[in-house]
Amino acid sequence: MAGTGTAHLRDPDDVLMRIEDLTVEFHTSAGIVHAVSGISLDVRQGETLGLVGESGCGKSTTGRAIMQLPAPTSGRVLFEGIDLAAIDGKHLREVRTRLQFIFQDPISSLNPRRKVKDIVAEPLRIWKRGTEQERQARVTEVLDAVGLDPAVAGDKRPHEFSGGQCQRISIARSLVLEPKLVICDEPVSALDVSVQAQILNLLEDMKARYKITLIFIAHDLAVVKNISDRVAVMYLGKICEVGSPDDLYATPAHPYTAALLRSIPVPDPTVVPSSSGLLLGDLPSPIDPPNGCRFRTRCPAAQERCALEEPQIRAVAEDHFVACHFPLVGTTAPISLPMPAGPVSVPTSPSSRTVTGDEMGEQRRMTGDESGNNAGSTASGSVLLIGAGVTAFIVCSIVQAAGGSSMFTMSFESPDNFLLELAMQVTFWPGWLATVGLIGAGVLGLVDRDS
Ligand SMILES: Nc1ncnc2c1ncn2[C@@H]1O[C@H](COP(=O)(O)OP(=O)(O)O)[C@@H](O)[C@H]1O
Ligand code: SF4
Ligand SMILES: [Mg+2]
Repeated sequence: MAGTGTAHLRDPDDVLMRIEDLTVEFHTSAGIVHAVSGISLDVRQGETLGLVGESGCGKSTTGRAIMQLPAPTSGRVLFEGIDLAAIDGKHLREVRTRLQFIFQDPISSLNPRRKVKDIVAEPLRIWKRGTEQERQARVTEVLDAVGLDPAVAGDKRPHEFSGGQCQRISIARSLVLEPKLVICDEPVSALDVSVQAQILNLLEDMKARYKITLIFIAHDLAVVKNISDRVAVMYLGKICEVGSPDDLYATPAHPYTAALLRSIPVPDPTVVPSSSGLLLGDLPSPIDPPNGCRFRTRCPAAQERCALEEPQIRAVAEDHFVACHFPLVGTTAPISLPMPAGPVSVPTSPSSRTVTGDEMGEQRRMTGDESGNNAGSTASGSVLLIGAGVTAFIVCSIVQAAGGSSMFTMSFESPDNFLLELAMQVTFWPGWLATVGLIGAGVLGLVDRDS
């Protein structure tokens, strides 16, 4: 199988939508773009699935392939048990009324020449739903639901609204046919931070009110945390990790997820930003993706096996899955990544959640008490330093004694032997320096460990 496995998929009878081994390739003059390479995902009725990853990792392509816009190169998309790739165009168009898409750029996704009430009513007209009066009533209802005054907004055109208001219009249009599943492709990325929270809250309200299922695409883990029931992390056309937001944020199992979490800015001027463990370099080209694990060229924990063998997704805890040979949590040998000294704040909207460096380090305690091992090695290193310092003192004292002096005699009589005198000169001050330096470093190490 080209994909990274299906261990994270739930019972097909228990889900609204399921994609299996989905692959999307684009044939370009530069070569074949492997935009999505065998991913599997599912979403239950009423659930919100957050799909997260860097720009260019294939999130939008996945969303569009679910809608069959365009149809995937291979793989299956099962919606309400129907394989969308296997049905004819007429049936597909009918199914699409229950599947809606909200775009990233709200302004360009609305026809600038049409009035808002016509934009929102258009799907109802195309599908000949109800009488004109019933359609108008439905438009009024959804505009009201998304927080726009139908009497004022209905006769205006998109350019008369702000970005946030245009996104409200897009949401109204997507809801007008009473869809079952709405795919939101970075719906707040183009909006001001102050407006993002309002739109996220609105989507939550709409989800509860109309009992819809959401796939929420974002490049920022912080954005999806509060609204998702399950989060899937994507990297270069593959799924890396799937889990509940709480598990994924507190104990990320994939080095990529951990790096994404670290890259979230901390809105606290007292916290000094740390560059350790951050994601370095650019996303490799999807035309020529790395063999084995696709993250290996940027992974701080990559080993030989990562180039030879593609990791298959597997469980590391209940409802927590990862595609990594050396996950940060779980039963196999854990890897150690540098943890930030300060708190890693995960700003979410409307409230915020802070994951501390200690909390992220909890994963290491769960996997063989690595922190205990580190403490042990620090202690033995300190003892070795103290031992080396004492040894230096003894050796230098022996040299001084051979010349009839001692380490505590600042001036000594020169012996007849030139070499012995040289040895005494060389060992006196350097001897003291080595003694004090080594013993001091060892003692400091022990004190530091205890504190
Ligand atoms: N129509 C297309 N033709 C060629 N390449 C495409 C096309 N659409 C997307 N891609 C490429 O596929 C990869 C994934 O794109 P996309 O799904 O838009 O990523 P994301 O939404 O995660 O930013 C990117 O490298 C992008 O350039
Ligand atoms: S440890 Fe290996 S398998 Fe895991 S993410 Fe890094 S490169 Fe991939
Ligand atoms: Mg995109």
